[in-house]
This record gives sequence, C-alpha cells and structure tokens, in this order.
Amino acid sequence: MIVKDSDFYRAYVGVWDEGALKDAPFITLGVEAILTDYYGDLLDAPPPFPVTKGALTLDLGCGWGRVLKPVLDRGARGIGLDISRAMLAQSKKHLEKNSHRPVLLRGDGTMLPFKDNSFDTVYSLLVLQHLSKANGKLVLKEVHRVLKPGGVAYIRVPSRFAPENLLFAFLQFVSIRLFRYRDPIRMRFYRLGEIRKLCRGLFSGCEITAHEFRPPWNIHTKWTWHYILVPRRLHAPLRRLSDRIEAKANGRIPFLKHFGVTLMVKAVK
Ligand SMILES: C[S@@+](CC[C@H](N)C(=O)[O-])C[C@H]1O[C@@H](n2cnc3c(N)ncnc32)[C@H](O)[C@@H]1O
Repeated sequence: MIVKDSDFYRAYVGVWDEGALKDAPFITLGVEAILTDYYGDLLDAPPPFPVTKGALTLDLGCGWGRVLKPVLDRGARGIGLDISRAMLAQSKKHLEKNSHRPVLLRGDGTMLPFKDNSFDTVYSLLVLQHLSKANGKLVLKEVHRVLKPGGVAYIRVPSRFAPENLLFAFLQFVSIRLFRYRDPIRMRFYRLGEIRKLCRGLFSGCEITAHEFRPPWNIHTKWTWHYILVPRRLHAPLRRLSDRIEAKANGRIPFLKHFGVTLMVKAVK
C-alpha cells in the first residue's frame, strides 16, 4: 500500500482490528447492520452477484465473512483475504460455525500474494472507498492481474452523489476541518464516470449498476454512529420506494444511477 508513513499504516490496520473486536458487522456495514427491518437479516442475504459452483473465487477485503459464507454455501471454492488479522479471526469463527473450512489469508489488496491469471472470480465489496485514489487504482490493477482471461470481477463502492453519502461527506469534512479528527479509514466516494473510466482502462468489459436509493438518515460521525433520523415506521415503505427507483435506474432511466448509495461494477478481463 502506498502510505505517507508507517504510523499511518499502523493506524489504518488498527482501526479495522479494533472494530473487528468491538462490533465487526457495524464497522464493516454501518447502519445496514442494525436496521434489519429495512435491510433484512444480514445473515440470510444472498451474495449480490451470481456464484458458479467450483469457481475459484477471491473475496478481497472479506471482513468477518459476511459474503464469503453464502459464496461457499453455493459451492464456490472461496478464499478470503483481509488486511486485518482480527477481521480474519471473526471470519474464521463465522465460517466454521456454519460448517465451512475456510482458506483465509492476511494480505493487502494493493499487492496480492497470488500468481497472474489465478481466479475465475474476484470480488471486493466496500473496500476501495477507504483507500486513497492511488491505492484504489493499485487494487483494481491487482484484481485484473490475478483474474484468468474471461474471469469476472465485482467491485462495490459508495457513490458520490447519493443524498446519504453527501451528508456523510459533509460531516466528515466538518469533523476533519473543525475538530481536526484524522480518521485513518476516512471515506472517498466514487463518481459513476470515475469508476467507469478506471475499470474501462483495464478490463475488456464493464457494466455498472446502482443500488439503494434511501434518504440521508444517519448522522454519521465518530461520536453519533447510531443516530438514525428516519422513524422506524417509514423504513418498510422507503425500502419499497428504493427498490422501484433502483429498477428504473438500472433500466430505462440510467441518469438515476448517480444517486444510488452504492455502485456495483461488473468487469470482465
Ligand atoms: C467496510 S469493510 C467490508 C467488508 C466486507 N467486504 C463486507 O462487505 O462485509 C472493509 C474491509 O476491507 C479490509 N481492508 C481494508 N483495506 C484493505 C486492503 N488494503 N487490503 C485488504 N483488505 C483491506 C478491512 O480490514 C475490512 O475488513
């Protein structure tokens, strides 16, 4: 990873290690981990991409194994890689509890410990936004390098213009400028055109879909993580509305993609 100094690297990994011990679902997913009436039960969620039985699959930044579990359930040969040992320990616990014998590795997505052309599928969900632009580019290069020709990558990033992310970015800006809070895992939000350009420069094919069209409902700062603005009784109708907008954005009205909370890139080597 390109870092200014080793203190930064230690602090960066330290936040993930500490978060894994304190509350791994929350540090990896934020409000999605606690609002089960809106998001459904995390432990039941299917992977957000098709899984091929027997396919050698890398989960880059696997966290506590949230997605690796359903991927293994569906018969893929999955490997989980993460920069945080504590996250990997949570992953091991979660996967073993569900009768898997996982292959888990500590590593850095910007320099993957695998040979060229190794994997059928590589996915990396909600990792790139915590890295600098330069490190994000390195991760994408590495994903491309370790994929077999014709292999498919799925990359999920938060997008720049979703109302929820605009509020998040504003609060992050205030906490950095006003309170001098230097969060090592601070978020960068990707524009649709930016992530498309990065992927098209590397991969032979690239499709992007947008997901989650929810209002800004979480006052997200270091001090107020669980502060939810929208009353619970509105969650179910908002979910239905989000699903309808999502279908339009990924269908007849692609302009709406700019406002989805996350963008999913499907890229083919
Ligand atoms: C927001 S969490 C997402 C976890 C998981 N992908 C999920 O969707 O549940 C980000 C994860 O990426 C890991 N991570 C961050 N930077 C990384 C890097 N350079 N290489 C590998 N893993 C990294 C963190 O330790 C953390 O587990």
